[in-house]
Amino acid sequence: MTAYPKTSALMRRGAEFLGSEHAILCGAMSWVSERNLVSAISNAGGFGVIACGAMTPELLDAEIAATKALTVKPFGVNLITMHPDLFELIEVCGKHSVGHVVLAGGIPPKGSVEAIKAFGAKVIVFAPTLALAKKLLRSGGDALVIEGMEAGGHIGPVATSVLAQEFLPELADDHVVFVAGGIGRGEAMAGYLEMGAVGVQLGTRFACATESIAHPDFKKAFFRANARDAVASVQIDPRLPVIPVRALKNKGTEEFTAKQREVANLLDAGSVDMGEAQLQIERFWAGALRRAAIDGDVENGSLMAGQSVGMVTKEEPVTEIMAALMAESEAALNRR
Ligand SMILES: Cc1cc2nc3c(=O)[nH]c(=O)nc-3n(C[C@H](O)[C@H](O)[C@H](O)COP(=O)(O)O)c2cc1C
Repeated sequence: MTAYPKTSALMRRGAEFLGSEHAILCGAMSWVSERNLVSAISNAGGFGVIACGAMTPELLDAEIAATKALTVKPFGVNLITMHPDLFELIEVCGKHSVGHVVLAGGIPPKGSVEAIKAFGAKVIVFAPTLALAKKLLRSGGDALVIEGMEAGGHIGPVATSVLAQEFLPELADDHVVFVAGGIGRGEAMAGYLEMGAVGVQLGTRFACATESIAHPDFKKAFFRANARDAVASVQIDPRLPVIPVRALKNKGTEEFTAKQREVANLLDAGSVDMGEAQLQIERFWAGALRRAAIDGDVENGSLMAGQSVGMVTKEEPVTEIMAALMAESEAALNRR
């Protein structure tokens, strides 16, 4: 018997897919989604996801092993498709029999989905358009996350509310679809579940959990911030397409402008190609996020955060955040 019967009923397919009690994923956050937060989320009945980010295969190997030592519950691994060692990282996931691999950051390269499925794991994909979502689900993706531009980190151009209306009526009956971006409370969760989502993914709300290793100053910046402080980065050169990143405004925001100029100049000079240029931009973000989230340099580092940051006002244990989300959702459904 669950304490949240209506919410749990709407989450049933998602929870079965994940092997968790609640179909609430904590989206992978580079540097932050490591053994402590991931195991805390899974132990609290949610689904934690290790952010591989720019880790080497050896580091990922150690991180998965350390997470397994902290939880017997299922958790996933998020791999960035443009990582130069993607296939070795997939092998590491296979070695540990990871049950779910999330492929983020672009269209999965040829053979990657097959390599993951070969060791029995489920593949979770992102898709910015309905056509691409259908294609990825046809070609081996087992579940989809639709993520709106309210989210923290790398974002697309469309709001979660619009993506949900576009994707869910077409896909929800036959596919496992999770909704992410801008979810700060359970009432919003209930709304997406009623529209056909089988679960949700949150990042910003969990970044400041007690179990998160994010630096205390990083967390304080979140507690102080309002929704409007979480702004999308701006592309300054039309020749260098950069994926926008949503983060709290600070000096680091300006450093990104300078970095784009530097990389655009390298492109002009012919000393790098477009692939290398984009990799340099991504390395910049990984370094900037580390500087803020781990070293606590909240002036110059990147404070990646979604618009739901305004609803994050204090440090709370993961169990309390999870219980609040479920209770808010249940109360909303009971009021219907
Ligand atoms: C600090 C931070 C770092 C993130 N890093 C990653 C990442 O490495 N890979 C990824 O797929 N998503 C990343 N995200 C996105 C989250 O996984 C999640 O989808 C997003 O935070 C959900 O939206 P919300 O912030 O509105 O809850 C990051 C988000 C934040 C806030």
